[in-house]
Amino acid sequence: MKIFLDSADLNEIRKVAELGVCDGVTTNPTLIAKSGQDFKTVLKEIVSLIPGPISAEVVSTEHKGMLAEAEVLAKLNDNIVIKLPLTPEGLRACKVLSGQGVRTNVTLCFQAGQALLAAKCGATYISPFIGRLDDVSIDGMTLIRDIRTIYDNYGYETEILAASIRHPRHVIDSALAGADVATCPYKIIAQLYSHPLTDKGLAAFLEDWKQSGQKAIV
Ligand code: E4P
Repeated sequence: MKIFLDSADLNEIRKVAELGVCDGVTTNPTLIAKSGQDFKTVLKEIVSLIPGPISAEVVSTEHKGMLAEAEVLAKLNDNIVIKLPLTPEGLRACKVLSGQGVRTNVTLCFQAGQALLAAKCGATYISPFIGRLDDVSIDGMTLIRDIRTIYDNYGYETEILAASIRHPRHVIDSALAGADVATCPYKIIAQLYSHPLTDKGLAAFLEDWKQSGQKAIV
């Protein structure tokens, strides 16, 4: 499964790039606002740090405006993926862009019917927001499983990008459910590699090594 970083914070992006586990980045208008930087400037920085798909979201609400924004954003770099809201206007723009070979990420998906329509419009990625569903007592993972079944039944190539991830278990369960990508906040990536038994085990190994009187390896 691919792991994307869900952030527009350049420090976080640099740290995850160094780890070597990041296949792409997703942003949204809220994350860009939090970065405190100009949208296009921050996108150019992100593409220079991560050599993978970088989702950049339009803010227009009608399809002509979305297409005009998409044209500008797509020109910034070949790795830019145009993020569109799951509205009739967003689907319309998705259909046009996919026809032009522009990659798209259809976002704010909360039910399987929406995901079916996005696939029919040729979306490259569909972003089901599992954490926001869990927040309102609807099982987000059921949505991932339903979309997986529908896409497999009909051979849709749209990739399932599990979004709105709140904890490491969401990543594991998304992988088990067959999601193609999980987009994670920085904190979740750090939680994925952390385990107290790893830290305890390493401390014990190093202490035993020290006590043994072995010579330095290099
Ligand atoms: C995905 O592309 C979104 O940017 C993100 O996952 C939303 O997460 P949130 O519900 O934590 O805001």
